[in-house]
Amino acid sequence: MKLDPRPVAAGGEHLSITPMAGSDVREVMRIEQQSFTTTWPANAFYQELNDNKLAHYYVGRIGENIVAYGGIWVILEDSHITTIAVEPRHRGRRYGEVMLIKLLDEAIARGASWMTLEVRESNDVAQALYRKYGFTTVSTRRGYYSDNNENALVMWAGNMKSEIYSNRLRALRSTLTG
Ligand SMILES: CC(C)(COP(=O)(O)OP(=O)(O)OC[C@H]1O[C@@H](n2cnc3c(N)ncnc32)[C@H](O)[C@@H]1OP(=O)(O)O)[C@@H](O)C(=O)NCCC(=O)NCCS
Repeated sequence: MKLDPRPVAAGGEHLSITPMAGSDVREVMRIEQQSFTTTWPANAFYQELNDNKLAHYYVGRIGENIVAYGGIWVILEDSHITTIAVEPRHRGRRYGEVMLIKLLDEAIARGASWMTLEVRESNDVAQALYRKYGFTTVSTRRGYYSDNNENALVMWAGNMKSEIYSNRLRALRSTLTG
């Protein structure tokens, strides 16, 4: 599949990342609706924030405005990216990458050695981001997405606490901070 031209990566201002609060969900929903064909209802976010002890959600702000968010579940050594998105007009400025690093850092700090996720077979941009961070495709879930019956690729990164992985993460992080 041909990828869209990349947006100009200008003005990459510092993304300030904090845990998601209930009061952030309205703004998160605005980005959710611009980012996914099948969207989570606001209630799903509230439930994750209030009732799921395994869940950790973050928002990234430029100034006052939320422009990115992401979430993980961490269960002992396993972790799972549940969602990640950047507001369309802010894409291509490395904010997705900064958010992914935050999710990886938080998972590793909580003891995870592995991380997995599902991604649409047609979502080449997200797959490229994940591959950059050492994720490989391990299986396909046929017809996983009910809106168009699209397959999900299951991607996986392992040995996240190893020296090799931390060196990789450090090298990638240094390209973001200059
Ligand atoms: C996936 C997403 C979070 C990436 O965020 P982003 O801020 O635009 O991406 P970044 O600027 O941080 O780019 C980081 C990497 O992503 C990949 N990428 C980003 N834009 C790309 C493009 N237009 N074409 C190909 N790869 C691209 C590349 O690997 C890039 O690294 P590189 O420039 O060194 O090659 C964003 O596109 C998004 O919100 N998409 C909609 C929601 C979604 O699909 N979420 C994932 C669900 S599994």
